Amino acid sequence: MLKEPVEEALNEQINAELYSEYVYLSMSAFYEEEGLPGFASWMRAQADEEHAHAMRIYDFVIERDGRVTLTSIDSPPTEWSTPTDAFKEAYEHEVEITEMIDDLVALARDENDNATENMLQWFVAEQVEEEATAQHILDKLKHVGDDGTGLLMIDQELGQRGDTGGNPGGPGGDASDSTVE
Ligand code: FEO
Repeated sequence: MLKEPVEEALNEQINAELYSEYVYLSMSAFYEEEGLPGFASWMRAQADEEHAHAMRIYDFVIERDGRVTLTSIDSPPTEWSTPTDAFKEAYEHEVEITEMIDDLVALARDENDNATENMLQWFVAEQVEEEATAQHILDKLKHVGDDGTGLLMIDQELGQRGDTGGNPGGPGGDASDSTVE
């Protein structure tokens, strides 16, 4: 049985993960427009991961006999000044999500909710990976700067993320297959 404050906070996190999905889909559309299909594919795979994160919490709430309550998802940003700017925002977004997860862990501890805290440990580890991945790609982008050839090389590398079954960037990609993640 979930205590009310924990149930409420988990529902907020479901919304935050679905918003993350929106953010990365929006970034994917931006990269498509920029003629960078590898970046677009990477972001689309990332959006799929965020959906899976939301569903992991969704399923947990139900398993604990809680009530999932879905609320409106904010509009994501749609424009960035450069390809690097969009990735910088992706990194900053992940840092914010990490803070949310840390706050959730603290709440679960306060409420003596060991099951929720245990479930959240998966997210704690995942956020280490998500931040490191975004930081790694951002570092590469900073080295490349305005060099178009360098950007295309990174685009090619990012395009290798996941096996999309002939639909570049399409559903089914698994970030664990990525060479750059
Ligand atoms: Fe679900 Fe990227 O944090």
